[in-house]
Amino acid sequence: MSHQVTLIPGDGIGPEVSSAARRAVDATGVSIDWEVVQLNEEVIRKAGVSLPQDVLDSLERTRVGLKGPVTTPIGGGFASVNVALRKRLDLYANVRPVRSLPGFATRFSDVKIDMVIFRENTEDLYSGLEHEVVKDVVTSLKVITRVASIKIAEYAFAYANRMGRKKVVAIHKANIMKLADGLFLRCCREVAAKFPHIEYKELIVDNASMQLVMRPETFDVLLLPNLYGDIVSDLAAGLVGGLGIVPGANMGEGHAVFEAVHGSAPDIAGKGIANPTAMMLSSVMMLIHLEELEAAKRLQGAIEKVYADRSALTGDVGGKASTDEFTSGVIRAM
Ligand code: NAI
Repeated sequence: MSHQVTLIPGDGIGPEVSSAARRAVDATGVSIDWEVVQLNEEVIRKAGVSLPQDVLDSLERTRVGLKGPVTTPIGGGFASVNVALRKRLDLYANVRPVRSLPGFATRFSDVKIDMVIFRENTEDLYSGLEHEVVKDVVTSLKVITRVASIKIAEYAFAYANRMGRKKVVAIHKANIMKLADGLFLRCCREVAAKFPHIEYKELIVDNASMQLVMRPETFDVLLLPNLYGDIVSDLAAGLVGGLGIVPGANMGEGHAVFEAVHGSAPDIAGKGIANPTAMMLSSVMMLIHLEELEAAKRLQGAIEKVYADRSALTGDVGGKASTDEFTSGVIRAM
């Protein structure tokens, strides 16, 4: 049977890394019927809406997406399409496994890092509700709801339970944002109480950042509201070799969209040097979601082999290979 998947190349390095990931997935032999739809700066400007209807229609149909990054203008311009997509499809759980690649040396490679970040994906300061009260005075609304906080906490604990993970740490700033982060924490505690066999802890986000750098091996499952989850994800990526490596999934009840943690990397776009590992590992997560477990294992194994023998690594992880050469290396290893 062929799986239907919406492929969104995105922009910047998106088209390069997503076509590499597509090549690698096709090489597993799993039959995928890719429906390619365009979502990028140019399309959005032309359409005048942040989510063109054909993108939504395709995801409605296939229910599974593999998405490259999309550029969001800074300090003005259109609202983030990434945020809009997550909200529109209620992809409330952003799941980001951060793992050391076996045999691949980083400055943290004396310890084994194996954590999974669960970031609430639909609210918090990403509500985009900003208001200029008077000239030079701006407010930005941080929205935290019980419904969304319970949902992400339940998703994280259910995952920890299913995967035999031992420890969940909720990360917050409830000492300052007593109401908003206080509500988030109360929801985490409520869900934690239903899983007494899983150790539950809380850390203030600044302390958590320091602990992540000093003792990354002590982290297991991390549970965060949207903004801290975004920042901590990039920090955690830095522990295992950088943004070129860490994959992710946006999960909802009815839809799943897989995408790397990294953005569109305009500084290296179009040069053929972007690292497609994060997109490929996002594809591994997608293959697991599609219950193609054997293919997922083979693709993951091939990526790990290329890292372990350093045969075709891209520049960001200390090699000299191009995006294409890395991809061919992975396919050969498979
Ligand atoms: P970025 O993640 O695009 O890049 C940060 C740094 O990491 C750059 O030096 C870049 O060259 C490097 N990098 C990222 N991915 C890489 C890869 N695969 N291989 C090698 N090097 C890589 O973050 P930045 O520059 O803050 O954002 C650029 C644009 O991307 C912005 O418009 C932002 O809004 C957007 N963005 C989109 C996301 C999405 O579509 N999900 C997520 C994050 C940012």
